[in-house]
This record gives sequence, C-alpha cells and structure tokens, in this order.
Amino acid sequence: MSKDLFLTKSLTDLLQEAKENKTGLKKTLTGLNLTTLGIGAIIGAGIFVLTGQAAAQYAGPAIVISFIISGIACAFAGLCYAEFASMIPISGSAYTYSYATLGEFLAWIIGWDLILEYLFAASTVSVGWSGYMVSFLKDFGINIPTAFTAASGTVLVEIPKLGWQQLTDTLAISLTKQGINVDLLPHITAIVNLPAMFIIALLTLLLVIGIRESANFNNIMVIVKVAVIILFIAIGFAFVLSDNWTPFIPKNTGEWGHFGWSGILRGAGVIFFAYIGFDAVSTAAQEAKNPQRDMPIGILGSLSVSTILYILVAIVLTGIVSYTTLNVADPVAVGVDAMGKGMFWLRPIVKIAAIAGLSSVILVMLMGQPRIFFSMSNDGLLPPVFSKVHPKFKTPYVSTLLTGGAAIILAGILPISILGELVSIGTLLAFAIVCVSIVVLRKTRPDIPRPFRTPFVPWVPLLGALICLIQMAALPLDTWLRLVVWMAVGFLIYFSYSIHHSKQRKNHKL
Ligand code: ALA
Repeated sequence: MSKDLFLTKSLTDLLQEAKENKTGLKKTLTGLNLTTLGIGAIIGAGIFVLTGQAAAQYAGPAIVISFIISGIACAFAGLCYAEFASMIPISGSAYTYSYATLGEFLAWIIGWDLILEYLFAASTVSVGWSGYMVSFLKDFGINIPTAFTAASGTVLVEIPKLGWQQLTDTLAISLTKQGINVDLLPHITAIVNLPAMFIIALLTLLLVIGIRESANFNNIMVIVKVAVIILFIAIGFAFVLSDNWTPFIPKNTGEWGHFGWSGILRGAGVIFFAYIGFDAVSTAAQEAKNPQRDMPIGILGSLSVSTILYILVAIVLTGIVSYTTLNVADPVAVGVDAMGKGMFWLRPIVKIAAIAGLSSVILVMLMGQPRIFFSMSNDGLLPPVFSKVHPKFKTPYVSTLLTGGAAIILAGILPISILGELVSIGTLLAFAIVCVSIVVLRKTRPDIPRPFRTPFVPWVPLLGALICLIQMAALPLDTWLRLVVWMAVGFLIYFSYSIHHSKQRKNHKL
C-alpha cells in the first residue's frame, strides 16, 4: 500500500499530454522575456507592503539582512527549479514535476500546498492593492469608509498626520513612548476589506471571459514597476536620515522573533513572500524557445534583479522614516509622504506603479491556481468539475470562479499578516520539497537527461532546503498550526476522495 502512494506518472505520458495540448502555445519566449515574466510575477505586495510590516514588527532596518538571507534560499531553490524545468520542459508546476518523479502522494502534498502559494497569495496581494488604492483615492479626495478597508475585526486607530493604522502591540508601545495616549485616539473596528474583494472579483471575471496577459503587456508592466522603483530608490537616498538606521538591529524585545537576530530570521520568513513568483517562470517552459538554456536564465535572472531592487528599497525606506511607523498597508507611500511637500508629485506615480504591479501579480496568481486545479482534476485527484472548460470562452471557468470566490472571502476577512505568513510557509515547504527531490532524483533516476544541472549537488539543494526550513521555523507558531490544519485537511481529501479516483491508480488497476 505504501508503495502505491509513490506511484509515478510516466515521463512518456506527460510528454504525450504536452503534445496533445491544444492550447496552441508557441515557442517564442527568449531568456529576456522569461526574465521579465519572472520580474512581473515576483515584484508586488512583498516589497510594496510586507517590507514595512516586517521591519516595523520583526527586524527593524536589519530587514535588509532578512532580504539577503531569503534571497540566498530562493537562489538555491531557483537552481533546483531550473533543473526540474529543463528536465521536464512542459507547462506545469512543482505538482507536475513531482508526479513524474516522486509519486502521487508527494505530488498531492505539493499540489495542495501550492494552493497556499497561489490562491492565498492572490488574496494577500489584493489586500496590498486595497491599501494602495485607498491611499491613492484619498489623495484625490475620495474617501472609502475606513471600516470597509481592512480585514474583519481589525482594530484601527487614527494617528495624527499618519492617518488610520492597524493597532498592534509594537505600535502601541511606540506611541506610548512618544507620549501619545493610545486610548484617546479615535478607534474603529473594520467590517470587511471591500476594495480587496473588488479587485479579485474584477480579475476573476476577466479570467473567465478569457483575458490573457501577453508577454508585451507584461513587459510594459515590468518597465513601469522597475522604473518607478528605481526612481524611488534614486530620489529616496537624498532623504535618508542616518538616525533612522540606528540601531540597525534593534534590541530584542524579550520575545523571540521581535528584533535582534531572531527578528531578522523571522523577517526573512515573512518577506520571503516578496520572492515568490519565479516558479511562475517554470510554468512557461513550453513557450520558451530554448527551455534548456533559457529557463535558468529566466528564473535566476528575475531573482537577481528583484533581489538587488528589494535590498535597495529596504535600505532607502528604513532610512527615510523610522521603521516603527511602517506597519501600514502602504509603507512605500508613507516613505514618499515623509519626503515632504516638494515630493508630492511622486506620490501618485508610486501608487499607480504599485496598483498596476499588484494587479498583475494577482492576475498571474488567479491564473496559476486554476491551472494547478485543472491538472489535479485531470489526474482524477480532484472532482471533474475542476477541469470543466467553458464552451465559448475556452477557459477553466469553474475552477477559476471557485478560486476567485475563495480568494474573495479570504481577502475580505483576513489581515495581510496572516495571509502573507501562510503563503510564505506554504511556499517554503514546496521549495524545500523541490530541493530535496533534486538530491533524491540524482540518486534514484540518474538516467533522466538533465540539460541544466544544479551545481554542487547535494550541497546547494540541501542548503536551499535547510534555509527554507530555518525560515519556516522562524515563523510564528500560529502560522505553523494553520499549516498543520491545512495539510490535515489535504490528507483527509486525499484519502477519502483522490486515492479512489486517481486515474493513474485506475490505469495500474490499484
Ligand atoms: N512576490 C509576489 C509579491 O510580492 C507574490 O506580490
């Protein structure tokens, strides 16, 4: 029985499926296209939202070190993804790779786990989108009632000059230190995050009627995002007050993960979210002109560019304002605000770039999730309704609507910190499995041709997996409990449904 769980899908079957693929995908993408695709999917809420929150709550200005640690883990995982993508150069994901190599049960685990990455990331990024949209509209005198702009139950306080902010312990302590009585500030308890729900509904609708992000559109988005980020960095350096960097590593508060080196590690686990998306490059393997050469370029190129930009933004942002004020939904906008009246022209530009950039990340995530559901359903591990294609629009509309519906609910009621940390832990787990798989497969299947080989095996994959696990360990206990519950639900579904409907198992008469 246990062996049955590791039943693999043959590479021949997979390549045959790819051949029969009637999507008409053309092999047009170059290394540069893949790099811009990666940057398009990577740069989003992580840098525009979570950086500020992680700095404010966990690492202080040393969030820069968190970015370096997380970047190294991603580079190692990226090398492993590159090996997989060149080994099995068909559209897919870690789910498809693992089905071919590690067997059904681990493929299910990764597939179920990837929901945390894609579906939950769409919700997380939409909360970031909401923060920037609300702030952008406010600049033009349009005020959405505060109670409808944050997760249900979130307590917000109105701070003079800074506006409404989520009331956290760190903020309360910081305000008290400044002599401000928190109890006397206006309070509000949020009902639901309406703008976050709106953007998901809108993009889901577009995806159902067949909207497709072309490489050219993505290139434009990337140019806008990257150009504005470089502008922010260049201008921001002039407004840095070195006092804000002192102390660079704020003292530990006495609680593990709140400042000090443990805070840096926890920060790395949280902002790991910012790097998610390079695996979206691997899903375009089938559209690459020369996947064997270009997948590694796309994956590692987009990671390198993003890492450099992230580190620079973190340095500038924590230099412009005190990290204690960054626990907001739109920290980069707070940074621009702090530059003073003379720089007001930069506000709408930064916000438009963030809104556009976040929209594209949401779109890619909402597009990726139904594709994974689609494959899982085709394999019989999920009900057939997940692979139902709309007769007119030719889109997997049921799984798209289900994904959108679930993402809308999550976006409306959950705060970005819970969502973001769940996405991080889920993706870290997937990356760790991918890293370990590379080592296992070099031993068990040395015969499979590997056009791209991860260097220094087993050290690079093992170090990649180790750093991922350390970052997971640094995440809050609550996040771990949520992961355990999530995986338990996954096991329940696998053993009560999937195992009985698996097409592979039926083919093998198991
Ligand atoms: N890396 C993507 C973002 O930060 C998911 O929005």
